[in-house]
Amino acid sequence: DAPPPSRRLQLGFSPVAKGLADVVVVPAGYSARVLLRLGDPIAADVPAYRNDGSDDPATYDRRAGDHHDGMTWFGMDAQGRWSPQAPARGLLVQNHEAITPVFLHPEGQTVEDGARTVPGEVLREFYLHGVSIVETARAENGGWSYAQDSRFNRRVHTLTPMELSGPVRGSAHVATRHDPTGVRVRGTLNNCANGSTPWGTYLTCEENWAGYFRLTSAQGLDARTRANYQRYGVSGAGRELWATTQGAASAAEQDSYDRWNAEARGAGAADDYRLGPNTYGWVVEIDPFDPTSTPRKRTALGRFGHEGAALGPVQAGRPLVWYMGDDARNEYVYKFVSDAIWDPADQGRGMAAGDKYLDRGRLYVARFHEDGSGEWLQLTLAQPAIRGYAGYAFADEADVYLNARHAADALGATRMDRPEWTSINPLNGDVYLTLTNNNAAGRPPTRTDAANPRSYNDPKNGKDQKGNPNGHVVRFADAGRDPAATRFTWDVYLFGARATAPADVNLSGLTADNDFSSPDGLWFSQATPGLLWLETDDGAYTDVTNCMLLAAIPGQVGDGGPRTVNNQDGAQTRQQATFVGARPGEQGTQLARFLVGPRGCEITGIAESGDGRALFVNVQHPGEDTAAADIGAPARFQSHWPDGGQARPRSATLVITRDDGGVIGI
Ligand code: FEO
Ligand code: CA
Ligand code: CA
Ligand code: CA
Repeated sequence: DAPPPSRRLQLGFSPVAKGLADVVVVPAGYSARVLLRLGDPIAADVPAYRNDGSDDPATYDRRAGDHHDGMTWFGMDAQGRWSPQAPARGLLVQNHEAITPVFLHPEGQTVEDGARTVPGEVLREFYLHGVSIVETARAENGGWSYAQDSRFNRRVHTLTPMELSGPVRGSAHVATRHDPTGVRVRGTLNNCANGSTPWGTYLTCEENWAGYFRLTSAQGLDARTRANYQRYGVSGAGRELWATTQGAASAAEQDSYDRWNAEARGAGAADDYRLGPNTYGWVVEIDPFDPTSTPRKRTALGRFGHEGAALGPVQAGRPLVWYMGDDARNEYVYKFVSDAIWDPADQGRGMAAGDKYLDRGRLYVARFHEDGSGEWLQLTLAQPAIRGYAGYAFADEADVYLNARHAADALGATRMDRPEWTSINPLNGDVYLTLTNNNAAGRPPTRTDAANPRSYNDPKNGKDQKGNPNGHVVRFADAGRDPAATRFTWDVYLFGARATAPADVNLSGLTADNDFSSPDGLWFSQATPGLLWLETDDGAYTDVTNCMLLAAIPGQVGDGGPRTVNNQDGAQTRQQATFVGARPGEQGTQLARFLVGPRGCEITGIAESGDGRALFVNVQHPGEDTAAADIGAPARFQSHWPDGGQARPRSATLVITRDDGGVIGI
């Protein structure tokens, strides 16, 4: 018998070593070059970025944003239309999740008596969040660049007009002073991972949005809204203190600050922005090929701390499916199944196709059983457990989408070790899910389960790190390979660990060539089916190495048999059975380190050209552990990447090519 295709594929590079240098390291025979950095101009009339905090705030809506994250490369033909297999010209669409404030202004953020007092600094920050769309091309000599003056270049940021769409659109839950009818909203932020559609649009996912809102007193909020904000973590002064910015020059500018204030200040919900947090936490659809189109927040996909939205197998006559993680400790995994069945004639129809497939469907949350099976539970008021839930009184069906976390609680879904990215193996439909880590409180030995089976101590610099500090990767297969199925089987593909950890912690037998911690980005190549990329966002292993990118050729769900994990923490011990996938090196599964990033960064976001000969990878927040007090002392910056010398560090997109022009990774 011929081996399955995944067993025939071989990784084709020499693994790189772990490291702490302030550089990007890739294997021999490969080159990594910087394509697009924080602040780079994406319009003809914008000057080069000075990177000293002095650039004009009004230009930042035409510059690359900060904290590059999830991205998709959309191949484009000569007529400017989507062409998925195009090798050399395409739109790079990417998220700009957050900011490293210390490097954005002359001397970090100006704060006086707890308030922002320089409106220009706040305007920069409004623009630096969101999404960028930039035309890219490969030149004859194989080098890649972006077109500063392309008509497709666009920034979507926290001020961009958008509309709510789907079940929550037009409901009383989203009435604000900006639009009492609950349809029009502004902006997107904390865009973490991403997704795409079979009609050529981009999905950007709002993750840690709750932290941007001010709520120092819940007085005047109704009981539902209070329970909502408590469950979603809306509290405090707001992470960048936007709500109380002083010195507005106009009523419109004052409104741009007020909208981050979720406190009750008027007589009713339509008088203020108390319901503003209900307009965030969504998956947002953007059509990169139509720079004038209005992005839509697709509320049928639920409101939570969205990591990404990975499109399942696309089959004519079948519904479309997106798999989604809610990235917070002990949160859940969801999937959305469209009511409409896929009609290939809708390819290229833009937002009109989105209205057809993304506004009506079933939203499910996952429960993992101890025996390696699992079920998808539908979030709907038709479920008695939701209708009669004692923890939250749902107002109506729209409220189930709005308060998806409460609904998932009611159904007894499985609390996971921080669900990050999902991706689908094109060879067999298996869905992979990174669980980045969990701490001692979130995952004590007494609260492990088969899908989150490990609780241990991984000391770093002599200090305890308890819980599941190195994370793992779970994978599952919907029953009958039908993405609309409500049953699945699952196993654990891989456990993060130091290679030097004891065997009952290093359960996957990782070696110096592939040990890692805190998996986050995870993505299957489309050009090379069966090739999996894994990226890390780690605080737990940074005494030994900067964050990294690994390549893998995994087997399939069910490769591993049950195995017992010994969880121990002083008096608390528990043996937990789990289902472990084949170890790297066994049965043809492979895993090797491909890239190590500069100091203080996370490696996140990944995409490829249509022919697989260029790999785009994001380096997020190099040098982020620089103390604000050190902004005047460049020698003390944690990183100067990518510009070197004494420069301030910048998030940036890398383009990686093979020196012989070949396909990446194999
Ligand atoms: Fe923004 Fe879940 O990482
Ligand atoms: Ca992430
Ligand atoms: Ca992360
Ligand atoms: Ca990060």
